[in-house]
Amino acid sequence: MAEFRPIQPDEWPVLRDLAFAAFEDLDRRQGEPVTSPPSEDVIARRFRHVVETDPGGAWLAEEDGRPVGAGLAILREGLWGLSMLVVHPAVQSAGIGRALLERTLRYGDGARGGIIMSSDDWRALRAYARAGFDMHPAARATGVPRRLELPATVRPGSAVDLGLAEAVDRAVRGAAHGSDMEVMLAGDARMFVVEGRGYALGRGSELYLLAATDDEAGRDLLRAVIATAPQGESVQIQNLTATQGWATNVVLEAGLRLAVHGALFLRGDVGPFRPYLPSSAYL
Ligand SMILES: CC(C)(COP(=O)(O)OP(=O)(O)OC[C@H]1O[C@@H](n2cnc3c(N)ncnc32)[C@H](O)[C@@H]1OP(=O)(O)O)[C@@H](O)C(=O)NCCC(=O)NCCS
Repeated sequence: MAEFRPIQPDEWPVLRDLAFAAFEDLDRRQGEPVTSPPSEDVIARRFRHVVETDPGGAWLAEEDGRPVGAGLAILREGLWGLSMLVVHPAVQSAGIGRALLERTLRYGDGARGGIIMSSDDWRALRAYARAGFDMHPAARATGVPRRLELPATVRPGSAVDLGLAEAVDRAVRGAAHGSDMEVMLAGDARMFVVEGRGYALGRGSELYLLAATDDEAGRDLLRAVIATAPQGESVQIQNLTATQGWATNVVLEAGLRLAVHGALFLRGDVGPFRPYLPSSAYL
């Protein structure tokens, strides 16, 4: 019988191990190459930060004192987000995931809106739909991109642009990311800005987050992230839902391959949510 308790920031290795076990198993079941994890530093910073900022949303499930699952939720300016939900493959399908989700949702009671980025796991899709979220099936674009020009409207950004990022986040999803932005920047993310209209954060060949006030700025930022990815490496752009049609031409122009993968689940007031590509950890 599983027991549930709040998790502490210095228990982050437990979160890392559970996440590796659950996602490695998911990749294998889906016949996909096992995704290589980010560096230990990035992982530690992410989990510590989320548990520190949202202790009421951080839950661990244990069986006989052994960790078997975890759920992490964050609240930012009245917007709730699911940062992680995993159950160890050995004990999946026994109700632990649903029980963890319930606890993270209770933490968000009264929130204006909610965001979940779902994997393709059918139990995840089921649990989020049953919790009253609307499903937005998503595509993922991958591949080694063709060379794109760095758009003239885009410049590199830095911590001095966090005010702009806050204003854009509030316009596009009704809530700023707060200290999550500093954590992302500390993890050697590169930032791009279109003056007064939007920003994007990427690291290596990965896009973390993109928000803008108009589609053209969104497209230019996405071009910039793809254009500056390490040469010859495969990039990955996720969460291309029907709402983010503005992004489709850019990924196709870059020669990436589209495949339907997982879904974004939204409920309540999440703002216009376009042009917006959420971050998996900080949504
Ligand atoms: C997705 C995940 C967290 C779900 O946790 P879980 O403990 O395995 O799932 P649960 O047992 O709570 O089941 C969730 C739902 O699926 C149903 N379900 C689970 N196994 C089932 C089965 N074999 N047959 C029928 N229904 C089943 C449950 O009944 C429940 O639905 P309900 O609330 O309507 O009854 C877990 O499977 C996991 O870690 N998967 C890999 C990582 C992942 O994809 N995480 C989600 C990232 S967004």
